[in-house]
Amino acid sequence: MIRTAAIAILLATPFLSHAAEQAKAKADPAKGKVIAETVCVACHGADGNSPTAANPNLAGQGAEYLYKQLNNFKAVDGKPAARNNAIMGGMVAALSDEDMRNLAAWFSSQKLKPAVARDESKIALGQKIWRQGDFKKGIPACAGCHGPAGAGLPAQYPRLSGQYAEYTEAQLKAFRSDERNNDPERMMRSIAAKMSDAEMKAVAEYAAGLR
Ligand code: HEC
Ligand code: HEC
Repeated sequence: MIRTAAIAILLATPFLSHAAEQAKAKADPAKGKVIAETVCVACHGADGNSPTAANPNLAGQGAEYLYKQLNNFKAVDGKPAARNNAIMGGMVAALSDEDMRNLAAWFSSQKLKPAVARDESKIALGQKIWRQGDFKKGIPACAGCHGPAGAGLPAQYPRLSGQYAEYTEAQLKAFRSDERNNDPERMMRSIAAKMSDAEMKAVAEYAAGLR
């Protein structure tokens, strides 16, 4: 039931089609690479394999998702950014629409280095939430939207496999507290609101080791 609902949402929501089309339109990854090597490298690595857990891996992430996030970090016409982050807000201020498309194409085409789930004690709970959710608490299976192996589903559902567990956990908490609120139709905020700290940690560890 819950998976069916998630798939129904997937099929029924046109909310990103505009961004998705723009991301596909003539992006030039080689131009993105030049910016990646000069501006993004210190925090995300030139190929999107980030050196530290505070900065998310971008390699192998969906281009449409990356493009949407870069747009969301931008404050437009004096209005606060849809995804409010001081560091990334500063980074995107100088990027043009074309730059963002090129960067999304570059990082999306890079290979994500495999990570391993380190905390084995959390795997069982993490796997259960990933595959089945928690029916009683109304938590849907993550797999329904992020894919069975966590690779994400184009265009709007990001890859979570191989992502730093610390980053995934931090985003879940940010969705729960409403600090991050750029998710279409409150999809992630309504899920995170039902999750405990222990469940967030467990599923973040599980996703990090997925491939
Ligand atoms: C000084 C460090 C720093 C630099 C330089 C930097 N970033 Fe980031 N980036 C971050 C941090 C920290 C986050 C996580 C923000 C959060 O917690 O919401 C982030 C998040 C992102 C995300 C969101 C990823 C996701 O999974 O949602 C994208 C996309 C991104 N950065 C792209 C870039 C690009 C492209 C550049 C170069 C133009 C860049 N960043 C430069 C620190 C940096
Ligand atoms: C109904 C579909 C749906 C389900 C089910 C779902 N997600 Fe999501 N998730 C999304 C969407 C859409 C986004 C992208 C939001 C945006 O555009 O910023 C997202 C984003 C995320 C992010 C942010 C990734 C990043 O790179 O910043 C995390 C972490 C996440 N989801 C974790 C989970 C976990 C864990 C579960 C299972 C408990 C789950 N999601 C279930 C739709 C879903």
